[in-house]
Amino acid sequence: MLADDVVDCHVLVIGSGGAGVRAAIEASQFGDTVLVSKTIVGKGGCTTMAEGGYNAVMREADSCGIHIEDTLKGGAYLNDPELVRILAHEAPLRMGDLVKWGAVFDVTDTDEIAQRPFGGQRFPRTCYAGDRTGHEMMTTLVERLDGTKVSLMQEYTVIDLLMDGEAVCGAMALDEKGRFILLTADSTILATGGGTKVYDISTNSSSGTGDGYAIGYRAGAELIDMEMVQFHPTGAVFPYDARGRLVTEAVRGEGGVLMNSIGERFMQQYDPDRMELSTRDVVARAIATEVMSGRGTKNGGVFLDVTHLPKEQIETRLPVMLEQFLKFGVDIRVQPMEVAPTAHHIMGGLRITPECRTTLPGLFACGEVSGGVHGANRLGGNALSETQVFGRRAGEAAGKAGKREKTINLMQLEQQQDRLEAFLEGDENPAQVRVQLQKAMWNGAGIFRTASDLQNTLKTIAHLSSVKIKAGSARNLAECCILRNMCLTASLICRSALLREESRGAHVRRDVQQQFDAQHSPFGHTYISQSHEGVEQKEAGA
Ligand code: FUM
Repeated sequence: MLADDVVDCHVLVIGSGGAGVRAAIEASQFGDTVLVSKTIVGKGGCTTMAEGGYNAVMREADSCGIHIEDTLKGGAYLNDPELVRILAHEAPLRMGDLVKWGAVFDVTDTDEIAQRPFGGQRFPRTCYAGDRTGHEMMTTLVERLDGTKVSLMQEYTVIDLLMDGEAVCGAMALDEKGRFILLTADSTILATGGGTKVYDISTNSSSGTGDGYAIGYRAGAELIDMEMVQFHPTGAVFPYDARGRLVTEAVRGEGGVLMNSIGERFMQQYDPDRMELSTRDVVARAIATEVMSGRGTKNGGVFLDVTHLPKEQIETRLPVMLEQFLKFGVDIRVQPMEVAPTAHHIMGGLRITPECRTTLPGLFACGEVSGGVHGANRLGGNALSETQVFGRRAGEAAGKAGKREKTINLMQLEQQQDRLEAFLEGDENPAQVRVQLQKAMWNGAGIFRTASDLQNTLKTIAHLSSVKIKAGSARNLAECCILRNMCLTASLICRSALLREESRGAHVRRDVQQQFDAQHSPFGHTYISQSHEGVEQKEAGA
């Protein structure tokens, strides 16, 4: 028997964050839809951990044109302009869906949805539910999902896509006992989220292991701009176990200020106009520079201070931050926080069309696993909007796509099973290999990069990829598959970072002399697939 079970459907959605659940809700209107998730739906993924907010044009004084300009400028003009246009125009509509389905966002005295300022935006455009916006959205989406006929397969780890020639016709998965399951589908949507768990210090939940990038790449899809990794400026620096945990940009949106250890409000030196509300790439580099220059705190961060704000504002607008820091022994109403950059988001990903089609027939992608919307640096608040705008688009396009012959390629199944059996015969503990990978990425492919560091990191990744890791039992096979995905995602980041011989947005190459500013860069997207890789060259004047 080649599989322990076979499930057939019209649309298969892989991933249960904001984009995946939104895609499944939409797709279910067109036919049998299965949502497969390695976590319990609504509990894993990064959407539920997102704190600060959802960008949408909600006021006459704002406009989609300004949202588009802010997003393109923030993204160092590497964004796909059509995807940005769609984001700006559809974010308010998808906010309307959430409100209609019961999401409770904070409101003003006149009962309009409240908005707060976020970095790099000329209008306070970020809608929020305190500092637990993603949680409010996920609760609403899961309730809505419960009212559909979507079949949920929870705690199943998708290990690869099923191929029929060049086309995708479903996926292979392991259940929590390590049983091998085939999922056949007319259309498959990858909504697996991001992968900054490949770094030692990250805001991502444990599921942010980059599975979708690796799965898409192995199937032959093209990925773009994988070098563009966002380091959120403000992650917790202590206690050790909480390192990297998100300290929301809303803290700065509410008026929080950054100070170095000698009491200077140092953003004055890096972006005197926008100060703490500069874009994340700029603020993260500023903090890293202060720390590297010896002006950091003893825990290796800088201070983020809200003690000048009214206590009531902190208690009502930042309740999660207040509670989180109280647990660390810091009362942010009277003491500053300590923060430092943390790997947060991958702007690159599978290349998509406005309908979320990837370069492979039958495969769609939405949310963080896709690339192009955010360019070289994402504005805070644009990710939650992206999940809803492109989740709905992917669900609709996949749902409307026609039936597909699903010929199972027996050789592909046999190869996959050989790969799994090899894990049962390995000898190295995957947890130890994982830690080595994360440290290598943090040290060699972080905020500041050079060709030699990236090449050395690639050598380490190649070595770690060749180590014979051990599953111990069938139940642990998924962990080995995930580690292999992490190694592959890490190598895609480093290879793309070598391709881009310029500094732009979140990607800074210290070894490259730059003659131009980002807006006049001769380079377009980096692209990488099994068959080709390179960087697009722009025609002069384009
Ligand atoms: O800082 C934050 O609350 C994160 C928001 C985002 O990444 O969009």
